Amino acid sequence: MRTEGARVLVAGATGVLGRALAEGLHELGARVVAAGRNPERLGEVAAGLGTTGRHLDVVDAGSCAAAVHGAVEELGGLDLLVVATGAAGFGRAVELDEAVAEELFAVNTLGPIALVRAAAPYLAEARDGEGTAAVLSAVLADLPTAGMADYSAAKAALATWLQVLRREQRRSFRVLDVRPPHLDTGLDTRALAGEPPRLPAPMPHEQVVRAILEAIGGEATEVAMDGKELVVR
Ligand SMILES: NC(=O)c1ccc[n+]([C@@H]2O[C@H](COP(=O)([O-])OP(=O)(O)OC[C@H]3O[C@@H](n4cnc5c(N)ncnc54)[C@H](OP(=O)(O)O)[C@@H]3O)[C@@H](O)[C@H]2O)c1
Repeated sequence: MRTEGARVLVAGATGVLGRALAEGLHELGARVVAAGRNPERLGEVAAGLGTTGRHLDVVDAGSCAAAVHGAVEELGGLDLLVVATGAAGFGRAVELDEAVAEELFAVNTLGPIALVRAAAPYLAEARDGEGTAAVLSAVLADLPTAGMADYSAAKAALATWLQVLRREQRRSFRVLDVRPPHLDTGLDTRALAGEPPRLPAPMPHEQVVRAILEAIGGEATEVAMDGKELVVR
């Protein structure tokens, strides 16, 4: 898609990847509205983008819809939705606290789905028929990992939903599923519960941000791992 002048909502713009994507898209000439939960970081990011920050709590479907509708009102439509919200949680499958399990699925699966659902009618009407939903799932969707059963399952559920969405909406808008490996953003240090198992050396997040921006600017439907390589396809 053409990013110059594109009307964009970045959900999770208070996070490391979300902020870098919001700022990268802004530099490419897009009009970017930031949505996020942490008010201080949201204010800071929004000020840099020259737009209003939209409060977002993805465990609340009403908040997801309000963030989308607020952005549409401000921008006069929506060409690109980026969903970069997410939270990790660690613990053996049989031991994870039920409340943590529910939050993992709310934040990583149901919230992103609610955002895309709210945005779908606007993406279908996007400029030049180039509407795009770019959503962060994770490599765990393909490679579920011990000590992360619920986080892996929540991301796999999201990735499956995105596959179906892509088929159903192939004539309406593009669905880009981003499934990066372990990154250096510190997400594992902000987990909802538990200690991470031993993880591979993290990939620099700048590499993933570059790949996502390349994918958005083209026609790709996936940023994913092919062996040890991050590929845009
Ligand atoms: N880092 C990795 O190793 C890795 C690997 C694969 C996939 N990913 C995925 O990449 C995405 C971005 O992660 P990141 O690495 O950039 O981590 P991050 O900096 O911790 O960003 C996570 C974002 O999710 C937001 N969030 C969490 N719970 C929320 C809620 N209930 N409502 C609204 N926002 C909420 C956070 O908002 P606040 O800060 O405002 O609370 C933050 O903006 C996530 O989907 C993550 O699962 C990351």
